[in-house]
Amino acid sequence: MNPKLSTARMDVPSLFPPGMLSRLRRNLFRWHERHGRHLPWRNEGDPYRVWISEIMLQQTTVTAVVPYYERFLARFPDLPSLAAADERDVLRMWEGLGYYSRARNIHKTARRLVTEFDAQFPRDVPTLLSLPGIGRYTAGAIASFAFDQSAPIVEANTLRLYCRLLACDGDPRSTQGQRLLWDFAEHVLPRRRAGEFNQALMDLGATVCVPTEPDCCRCPLRTCCAAFRDGRQQEVPRLVKPAPLTAVSEAAVAVHKRGAYLLRQRGESERWAGLWDFPRFELAAGIAANNHQQSGKEPSASQRTALSDRVRLLTGISIEAPIPLTTFKHTVTRYRITLHCLRAEYATGRLKRSSAPLQWVRPSRFELFPLSVTARKLATQIAATTAR
Ligand code: ADE
Repeated sequence: MNPKLSTARMDVPSLFPPGMLSRLRRNLFRWHERHGRHLPWRNEGDPYRVWISEIMLQQTTVTAVVPYYERFLARFPDLPSLAAADERDVLRMWEGLGYYSRARNIHKTARRLVTEFDAQFPRDVPTLLSLPGIGRYTAGAIASFAFDQSAPIVEANTLRLYCRLLACDGDPRSTQGQRLLWDFAEHVLPRRRAGEFNQALMDLGATVCVPTEPDCCRCPLRTCCAAFRDGRQQEVPRLVKPAPLTAVSEAAVAVHKRGAYLLRQRGESERWAGLWDFPRFELAAGIAANNHQQSGKEPSASQRTALSDRVRLLTGISIEAPIPLTTFKHTVTRYRITLHCLRAEYATGRLKRSSAPLQWVRPSRFELFPLSVTARKLATQIAATTAR
């Protein structure tokens, strides 16, 4: 094997000749029988359950997914129940899991499967790929885990494992890198027990061939691993440097009117599209500077005017008497956000009609709305003080 393998097009079969291939499969199956993970979505053979788990597991850890998966399945046990639900209820079940377009896509897909596919999951990768939110990995996972089709997979854990087996130095996320890894995934896949094989690869990547300090002594594939042979398992694959964080200040204003608060559904082009929130916006440096909460003071006259202008722009109504309630700090993608939460009274004006719906909601009904994580914290705080 070439120790300095780039991701340039190359001949995968010559890197993994038949003898090595059968050893890899044999050792992997044997290891998996003893060390495979027991996860709630495993060995179900139900494409609906496999699909929900795979969508949840995109960009989210197993530990975070398990409670969401169980609650979601209890609420929507099958395709017809999901297709018949309101998008709002689907998002409510997804609240806190992030990447909400996933929830909106599964809802769209459930409706399509019921109307166009007689509530049956397609078994082949090309048809699965035509459904909203299903990419090459998820299609391969559904086809292999639920239907035992010989469909390859490449996701974070298997990507790392394949890169090490091949001692691949190039960028595994580049077009060439992806082509190489998918070719490899297809080459190593057996015709029989493909689902179990893919799960075993994923488990090995997640528990042994981990990003830092891989446990090569316990690895059943070390005799097939070019990175191990060359002592380069810590260097392969090349790590991507995370983008530096940018600090941003935002405000969320809980506008009160006769026992209710104004909620706004976030628009299609916004972060957390489809979720509801208190009117929320970025603060210009002047408004954020010397901020209300940290100084413990009421906003100055110019800050009050600026807040009122921003709320009017977003909702059509004017506010008065804003008072600081609390501050949350959280990180979203590459932004470190300081969120100043205020309460204000409705003053004048009508709610504007726009693509983002607005609704006055009593605290006892906050539970019914899918809220952003910070809006939920603020809503819980408001509901607790209202109930007293
Ligand atoms: N990550 C993505 N899919 C997974 C699965 N089915 N089991 C464990 N981790 C995963």
